[in-house]
Amino acid sequence: MQSAIHIAQDIPHMNSKEYNWHFVAGSIEELGFGKYDMVQAVVGDRTICIGRFKEEVFAFQSTCPHAGAKMVMGYIDAQGNAVCPLHRFKFSMKTGKNVSGEGYTMRTYPLEFRTDGIFVGFRN
Ligand code: FES
Repeated sequence: MQSAIHIAQDIPHMNSKEYNWHFVAGSIEELGFGKYDMVQAVVGDRTICIGRFKEEVFAFQSTCPHAGAKMVMGYIDAQGNAVCPLHRFKFSMKTGKNVSGEGYTMRTYPLEFRTDGIFVGFRN
């Protein structure tokens, strides 16, 4: 089934030597987004968080860069920022910038849709 969801980030070329690409899921539906539009995915020995806002999806670190809360327990605000469940710091899912101004940066990862599924890129 074709999904209307698309990847939001500026995507580096899939053959870029800068990234190692890893399979995440066969489709958006397989990710199993719940009502808060965030899910965790285990990719090799890493756990990442994937958020959905309107027609875009983003990948970022699963734990908050402030004090390690699980981002998947938070929510996405009306502007499309991931909100940490513990102290409510807000992060751009696209850039990782701490948009509520506390000075932290969340790691983000490029996602790519391919014919054989959704892949995430980790820097080499
Ligand atoms: S642990 Fe996330 S804002 Fe403090």
